[in-house]
Amino acid sequence: MDYAGVVEEVGAKINNNNNNTTTQSKGGMSYKPGDKVFGKVENTAFGTLAEYIQPSPSGCVPLPPSVSPASASTLGTAAQTAYQTLIPYITPGAGDEVFINGGSGGVGTFAIQIAAKCLGCVVTTSCSTRNTSLCTSLGATTALDYTTTNVTSSLRSRGRVFKLVVDCVGGSPHDLYTAADDYMVPSGTFVQIGGDFSPSAFCADGVAGSAAWFPRRREARIQVPCNEDEARGFDPARAVDGRGQDRGCYRWRCLPL
Ligand SMILES: NC(=O)c1ccc[n+]([C@@H]2O[C@H](COP(=O)([O-])OP(=O)(O)OC[C@H]3O[C@@H](n4cnc5c(N)ncnc54)[C@H](OP(=O)(O)O)[C@@H]3O)[C@@H](O)[C@H]2O)c1
Repeated sequence: MDYAGVVEEVGAKINNNNNNTTTQSKGGMSYKPGDKVFGKVENTAFGTLAEYIQPSPSGCVPLPPSVSPASASTLGTAAQTAYQTLIPYITPGAGDEVFINGGSGGVGTFAIQIAAKCLGCVVTTSCSTRNTSLCTSLGATTALDYTTTNVTSSLRSRGRVFKLVVDCVGGSPHDLYTAADDYMVPSGTFVQIGGDFSPSAFCADGVAGSAAWFPRRREARIQVPCNEDEARGFDPARAVDGRGQDRGCYRWRCLPL
């Protein structure tokens, strides 16, 4: 899905200047043959493992001179996902406490860096033994080894301090979400990006379905990077109703990725 490269040709259909040399993107950026760019393709049907691809302007931005094409080619999806899970919920520079479940993975490694280095958060993360030093080198203050540590107990022992949880794993530890009232501030946000997001999983006792069992939190805002069609066909209020819980507490948002 992700790419970095050089503009070979500018498509006539997206040429706002009618001279076939410059393309104006939604953000007002323009491109010409020879420009270095990076991004992600919106339509994943054909991917980016090719010499030539046809990206849309909305998934394409100029490559800053200080960034190598190789580095930029990793950013399109995973870094954007990490960015989207953090930016709306964090006050930059406030020292917010963030827990990133699965910090050593594709999304987690970006999330640690954005949270700790760009937003000034105090980051706790989880990963396996071999990756704890990677996570701390990226900016995490604490790396919990999920192979030797009860992650939920460790979080509980900190008290209700976490403003944001970004769960890149889903389902492990099994009680991460249901125990969140014990380690998150009351107005905290739990962002779920890993796990099974099928409609049936929502209605089952799966990780996302546990939102219905979350009686004390007045707002659980969950971002679901799932198939948009699936999301449209699913009525979360019905699942909450089915549990006999307060349907007004939960807001569900879908992020098309
Ligand atoms: N990558 C993307 O661009 C992207 C975009 C949108 C959504 N997503 C979704 O986000 C989720 C994570 O993606 P990813 O690319 O970051 O995956 P990944 O690179 O495979 O990373 C998985 C992370 O989970 C940890 N982990 C594995 N088993 C665990 C367990 N039993 N308990 C706790 N932690 C465990 C891994 O730690 P160790 O490696 O140290 O064991 C690692 O930090 C997936 O559901 C994926 O579909 C990914």
